[in-house]
Amino acid sequence: MKRNKVIAGNWKMYKNNSEAQQLANQIKIRSTEIKKTEIILCPPFSALALVHEQVKDSSIAVGAQNLYWEKEGAFTGEISAGMIKSCGAAYVIIGHSERRQYFGETDATVNKRIKAALAEGLKAIVCVGESLDQRESGVTAKVIETQVTAGLEGLSKDDMKNLIIAYEPVWAIGTGKTATPEQAQEVHAQIRGLIDAQFGSDVAEKIKIQYGGSVKPENAETLLSQPDIDGALVGGACLKAETFLPIIQAAELL
Ligand code: PGA
Repeated sequence: MKRNKVIAGNWKMYKNNSEAQQLANQIKIRSTEIKKTEIILCPPFSALALVHEQVKDSSIAVGAQNLYWEKEGAFTGEISAGMIKSCGAAYVIIGHSERRQYFGETDATVNKRIKAALAEGLKAIVCVGESLDQRESGVTAKVIETQVTAGLEGLSKDDMKNLIIAYEPVWAIGTGKTATPEQAQEVHAQIRGLIDAQFGSDVAEKIKIQYGGSVKPENAETLLSQPDIDGALVGGACLKAETFLPIIQAAELL
């Protein structure tokens, strides 16, 4: 089954508001020819509303990078799904490896966050991926299986329509090391198989699985042409229009 690609830019903790406005605007102006490929910009919370304002007259979507699962309350420093939605965002990244590594995110909290996002009508980009140690000790498949099954526990087939999975091997994030297209394809096919087992083949065929980890203009096409790679979650290369746009264009041509 042919699935249109989805390219998301994870801006991480980069871009103050004037830089964010400028980057969003450049991407908007220079992506008017893009018709099939979905573009999602994920700026820091501080720039969500501003970036939404900048791109709202285009087909570019906006996403947050995290959320807290409670609706509201005395949770200093946290932000809810509803608050994100009210900034105009349609998506939220959940369970990014930096959240897992530095902020104690687990499969159980990933699961709560996904449910909170979906309940508020946000779509979730759920990240999974193994560390270098795990890959070298041969437990990649086991790690992915646990993250996918525990992370998505209790979701319905309908919920899955609003989910994207991002496979991001931790050892490839921000390191310049990319998984080979074959390594990435192998895990993507495994993830699709797990979704098939958990939710059925109709869900598995439609779900989009992005690859993330040092995606750049030079490697985008070979990665994106793998049968189970439906897009990219881009970090470093999304911070400049000159490096983000060629990735989107590569996706559009496939
Ligand atoms: P990178 O980051 O492209 O800089 O490796 C990807 C990500 O963390 O989503």
